Amino acid sequence: MIGGMISENLEDFLTIDDFDVKGKTVLFRADINSVVIDGKVQMKERIVENAKTIRELSDKKAKVVILAHQGRVGREDFLTLEQHAELLRTLIDLKYIDDIIGPAAREAIKKLRAGEVLLLDNVRMLAEETLSRSPEEHARSIFVHKLAPLADIYINDAFSVAHRSHASVVGFPTVLDAGIGRLMEKELRSLRRSFHNIKSPCIYLLGGVKPEEVFDIMEHTLKRKKVNRILTSGCVGTMFLYARGIIEPGEEEKSDKQFMKNLERAKQILQMSDDRIWYPEDVAVEIGGKREEIPVDVIKPKQHIYDIGERTSERYAGEIRDAKTVIMKGPAGFYEKKEFRKGTEELLHAVSTSDAFSLIGGGHTSAAMSTLGINKTKHTRVSLAGGAFLQYLLEKDLPGIEVLKRD
Ligand code: 3PG
Repeated sequence: MIGGMISENLEDFLTIDDFDVKGKTVLFRADINSVVIDGKVQMKERIVENAKTIRELSDKKAKVVILAHQGRVGREDFLTLEQHAELLRTLIDLKYIDDIIGPAAREAIKKLRAGEVLLLDNVRMLAEETLSRSPEEHARSIFVHKLAPLADIYINDAFSVAHRSHASVVGFPTVLDAGIGRLMEKELRSLRRSFHNIKSPCIYLLGGVKPEEVFDIMEHTLKRKKVNRILTSGCVGTMFLYARGIIEPGEEEKSDKQFMKNLERAKQILQMSDDRIWYPEDVAVEIGGKREEIPVDVIKPKQHIYDIGERTSERYAGEIRDAKTVIMKGPAGFYEKKEFRKGTEELLHAVSTSDAFSLIGGGHTSAAMSTLGINKTKHTRVSLAGGAFLQYLLEKDLPGIEVLKRD
């Protein structure tokens, strides 16, 4: 159980420093899964950060074989890793082969020289990869059976897939000497710190478009009694405006099952919150193609809310300034549109300039930081993980982490 891991140092794992990788074949699990827009893979932090660890291994004269995925089978973002290879090539030298376990891939692995890097194709092209299996079962897969004998060491740098019990995540470390990469080290350190050294006042800033994703976190943290305030924004904040009866659901919302389920849950959470949940007092809407800020009690039925208003941002920023710990997930509004990025910008600015230890997580929030050009300071940690970040905040075991722990 994660709750038992108090230490911020990572003595329960082997790291790259524990291996002599020179001349050794290292199977390296990266997470370079990226946003795809119009078929084009976007260069994001995950690629940049993974490239740093890969470069270190290559500099140490390892033969690096990268295992990675892109998208999910059947979805539009399910692609080969050809574009990732091109993007990675702007940062490191590497070869790419559109094969994973076939003779061509195995031959290419065998031919690697010290310091060379080879990216294999999307591991999710193998049906075995995503089967719901235990580490021991995955270790018996053809995937692991074909590649593990060619490797000496397995390094996992993909915290963001650690919540998946997939072959490339749990199968290889079951049969090979295994450790964690630099990005994984960074992620684990910040998460452990935010969880086991929580200093009061602690606030959670929860926004984004999926209230159902953060309800579990709200319940969990309210029960743990470690949170002083939960400041809501985005669709999460709007849902609490409904739950408080400030906005009335219209016919459309009433016939939306997910909406009604969310509303019910938000009401239950409010009951257990002892007023620790705050919601916006003003919001930004679009009137005549322009941003207008209005108090929440004059929101009209069917009016779309695109951001929090100035008064809310100021009130929240004040709480952020006084906090010692801040955990943030989800943008405050539709930051992709210039007129509606103010709320997200102001909250991120308040977080990154406060003296509080802060942890910012979730793919959209870290993307918002880079879009808005907000730099993190020495107190700020940014997790590049989405699902794994959520699981961690819920203190659930992550199979990809458990399997890497030393006995
Ligand atoms: C992520 O983007 O969160 C990881 O790459 C995991 O992807 P998945 O949710 O498709 O397993």
